[in-house]
Amino acid sequence: MFNIVVMVSGGGTNLQAIIDKINKNELGDTRIAAVISSSRKAYALERAKQNNIPAEAVVKKDFDTAEAFDNALLSTIDKYSPDLIVLAGYLVIVPPVVIQKYKNKIINIHPSLIPAFCGDGFYGLKVHEAVLARGCKVTGATVHFVDEGTDTGPIILQKAVYVQPGDTPEILQKRVMEEAEWNILPEAVRLISQGKVNAG
Ligand code: GRF
Repeated sequence: MFNIVVMVSGGGTNLQAIIDKINKNELGDTRIAAVISSSRKAYALERAKQNNIPAEAVVKKDFDTAEAFDNALLSTIDKYSPDLIVLAGYLVIVPPVVIQKYKNKIINIHPSLIPAFCGDGFYGLKVHEAVLARGCKVTGATVHFVDEGTDTGPIILQKAVYVQPGDTPEILQKRVMEEAEWNILPEAVRLISQGKVNAG
């Protein structure tokens, strides 16, 4: 069994893409051991429940200090002994204690072709707004290993998506998800679970 923990903050459509591929037997012996959310309101938690996947929220503002949050997050993750941690729209900076313990075992999906439109401040719709403001004709998504920087770890997979005339940030975000994110994130999980890629 290849155990993954999926970390989320929002709607969880990337989580759903992984669930769907597992249900279609396309991810080998991958199993989602748990979903961990940064917010109690994330619809991703509902998706986990509907699929009988253990789910919990570890919410930063519930803790008095950053250190207390970091330790709680680490011990929540540890409970599920993951072989891989998948950040699927997780909007909180992953604490260094987690990155150090799970070195080369954390991947993230980013909605642009890194190194374009990534790093501090580039998340969610802001990425697509910046792509349109620059007049790019092509954008896409990237799956990469997570290191201590923001979007700086080794790249695993990328997929390009065309910008179309009349795109709004919302329309472009949806196309990048449908054509790129929902394909390359599960594919990266499959490749890693089968030992076909590693952080080098
Ligand atoms: C995706 O665009 C992902 O790339 C970004 O946040 C969004 C998450 O969407 N970082 P969802 O929660 O998987 O629906």
